[in-house]
Amino acid sequence: MVPLKRRKVVPSHTGSTGTGLEAPNRFPQIVLFLLERKMGASRRAFLSQLGREKGFQVEEVFSDRVTHVVSENNSGDEVRVWLDSKTGGRGRTPAHLLDISWYTESMSAARPVEILDRHKLQEQQMNKAEVVTFSVPVYACQRRTTLDNHNTILTDALSLLADSAELSEDEGRGVAFRRATAVLKVLPKQVMDVTQLRRLPCLGEHSLRVIKDILEDGASTEVESTKQSERYKALKVLTGIFGVGVKTADRWIREGICDIQQLQTSGQTLNRAQRAGLEHYHNINQPVTRSEADAIGEIVDKAVASVLPGAQMTLIGGFRRGKLTGHDVDFLITHPEEGREVGLMPKVVSWLESKGFLLYEKTTRNSYLESKDGPSRPSSNMDRFERCFSIFKLSEEEKGGAQQTDSVSQNHSGESSHPVSGPEAGQKQWRAVRVDLVVSPISQFAFALLGWTGSKLFERELRRWAGHEKAMSLSSHALYDNNQRRYLRATSEEEIFAHLGLEFIPPSERNA
Ligand code: CTP
Ligand code: MN
Ligand code: MN
Repeated sequence: MVPLKRRKVVPSHTGSTGTGLEAPNRFPQIVLFLLERKMGASRRAFLSQLGREKGFQVEEVFSDRVTHVVSENNSGDEVRVWLDSKTGGRGRTPAHLLDISWYTESMSAARPVEILDRHKLQEQQMNKAEVVTFSVPVYACQRRTTLDNHNTILTDALSLLADSAELSEDEGRGVAFRRATAVLKVLPKQVMDVTQLRRLPCLGEHSLRVIKDILEDGASTEVESTKQSERYKALKVLTGIFGVGVKTADRWIREGICDIQQLQTSGQTLNRAQRAGLEHYHNINQPVTRSEADAIGEIVDKAVASVLPGAQMTLIGGFRRGKLTGHDVDFLITHPEEGREVGLMPKVVSWLESKGFLLYEKTTRNSYLESKDGPSRPSSNMDRFERCFSIFKLSEEEKGGAQQTDSVSQNHSGESSHPVSGPEAGQKQWRAVRVDLVVSPISQFAFALLGWTGSKLFERELRRWAGHEKAMSLSSHALYDNNQRRYLRATSEEEIFAHLGLEFIPPSERNA
């Protein structure tokens, strides 16, 4: 046997900390990993180092090599969930899930002590047959997500963390929470136990922790403290103003402006959109109902028919997916003859303006050109996409005798602290509604329809699927095949799904 102390060991395993204090690896068949969860980083670092000094192999990073997972104050199920989150439920399972007591006893003995029952973490084999383990495909665009959500408590919590991440401009974290939320939305039943989630994709350690806290304690302290945090509340209120993004809200907060009233008295210079947003703040933050959306649809239809007979209008966005309320109403306009849609938006806008329907509008000419912006391939197909962000003035009359606005306008949170002034005061006979209009040439209509129906996550996942799984680039204008180096034409959403090798998902099942 090689005398161990004479072997000059430069530890090559990942457990090396480079402190030079590691003893030679005395137990090569044992690879340890200490779980930081509940142990804390510093205690873990200390204990790991101690182990290495005693000649144990203690890994810094979890991998297939690990044979013994040691944790403190975790149940077997918790460790199992953690492991599954690391390996996607597919990794090789380490032979032993052990309590810290085994580790400390082994430290004292300077060798791995025999594993007794009391060292083993108990995994509740809770009537395995009864517990439904859910399983869903990885991409949201492969799943049918209706509005029936059996886990709203969990999805509300994770959505809030997604919001918070996005408000902190942490896009990656935001997307991770959105994906986790979307997975829960598609489950056919209420989740009762975190072990049911073992096989699910997109549920990272953080999301699982939040879910577990809610399932076991009824609430997640992280979610609750985020919800209560002054910064989150202020960002929510300020970005709730049409025309105000995260950067502006953040700057205002640093200047001590945290709510609507403070903004009003601050003397901040606001742009045209923000002035309109502030003026109609309460109406805009009050959900738009389906009947209001239909009433606006009739108006837009009339406008479109008047300025260009034959032009067609389609309801898109959340209402096309069957939602009962929305933050705005979205419409896509086209004409069956290519090119006839050119210049349509300004005409529609003028018509609406002349009839007094618009409180605000901003039209952007779309600059998309396949030849310029498309994936490196010249094309004769010129794009003339135009968009209009607007605020509609919807009167009781147009709503066709629907409810008085005030009956719904007074229960929005924060409403009471806002001094009512201007057009929102008194017995107002109308409400402000955010409306988005998009014009597309007929050749791109299917792509525009698919791209503007949402949900946002569904769209993101479609593009990710296209790119990662099919080497294609999908936009609201076109689909490009990077292998064939050509655009794939489509005149319906069904064709686009077929090009992408996906089962067709109807709008009502795109509520990811
Ligand atoms: N969209 C987009 N580009 C934007 C804004 C929105 O392509 N700058 C698309 C989104 O991807 C989404 C659709 O337009 O598919 C509708 O967006 P939005 O109105 O923000 O969301 P909805 O799903 O309609 O939700 P809500 O009911 O709250 O309006
Ligand atoms: Mn919308
Ligand atoms: Mn919209």
